[in-house]
Amino acid sequence: MDIYNGWLIVNSYYNPAKFNSLYKLLQESAEKAGLRFSKWTSDQRPTVIGSAARDPKPSFVLFWDKDIQLAKTMELSGLKLFNSAESIALADDKIETLLKLAEKGVPIPDTIPAPTCFPNCKRNPASAEQAAKILGWPLVIKENVGSFGQQVYLANNVKEAERILTHIGEHDCHFQRFIADSAGRDLRVTVVGGKVVCAMERRSQSKQQFRSNMELGGVGSARNITPYEEKIAVEAAEALGLDFAGVDILMGKEENERYVCEVNSNPQLQSTIDTCGINPATNIMWHIRSQIKSAE
Ligand SMILES: Nc1ncnc2c1ncn2[C@@H]1O[C@H](COP(=O)(O)OP(=O)(O)O)[C@@H](O)[C@H]1O
Ligand SMILES: [Mg+2]
Repeated sequence: MDIYNGWLIVNSYYNPAKFNSLYKLLQESAEKAGLRFSKWTSDQRPTVIGSAARDPKPSFVLFWDKDIQLAKTMELSGLKLFNSAESIALADDKIETLLKLAEKGVPIPDTIPAPTCFPNCKRNPASAEQAAKILGWPLVIKENVGSFGQQVYLANNVKEAERILTHIGEHDCHFQRFIADSAGRDLRVTVVGGKVVCAMERRSQSKQQFRSNMELGGVGSARNITPYEEKIAVEAAEALGLDFAGVDILMGKEENERYVCEVNSNPQLQSTIDTCGINPATNIMWHIRSQIKSAE
């Protein structure tokens, strides 16, 4: 088997200890598919905008960061990124994601972007009140950029919305219809190369907690998904151009009431392995290999 050499790019500043086992997992999975990579933090491969990448060029870059400017600079210099800069940019901003999904006909929860708030301006809770006239209470309020459920809030009334909006301040955010039947549970579908690898249902363990993120105490269980869930998960990853993705789906009562609420460009791997007994990193590496080979 030919061996391809690449880079793993990770963030310079966000580097929790748990990432060491992630890198090991990626490395071991890569080896199985005949890929090797060296790991670099985002400051270690400085690239001049508009200049060609210096030799020896890697055959691929596994871009495990959200640094969109760096990703774009690397692509312009001739490097092949997984995921691509454009797809990471679309996935990283929830409104950009939802706009693209809506454009492609993928079902999403009803969502209203909140007005832009410049630095030193104060958010007006009237915007939440207006949105709630359409979306109802309780109202989900989310920062456009966020992870682990940390920037996702629920307001029961305008007073609570005001507190949340004051906390959010100038960060971009949006209002979303609360999918009550999905309170405390969602579906995480891992998609690689246009195919579903596995899926799990995540449930929060507390009635008070409507977010099912595992980082907030949610517990996953492996789940067979319906053809419709599979279809929208694959369509969501494809709409954003992601080679690999973790698609979060909210569930209404009926089988056809499914809404993609966000798509992750760096899907969690360990919790998926622990829950589903499948290692999506292997699929990711074989997918990268097939993409490199078909570009030869
Ligand atoms: N509109 C909604 N209705 C009901 N629950 C929601 C809604 N949006 C998000 N949630 C819950 O909050 C969790 C976190 O939201 P999500 O958009 O996936 O943000 P994050 O990027 O922080 O994971 C979801 O997994 C789901 O459990
Ligand atoms: Mg999520």
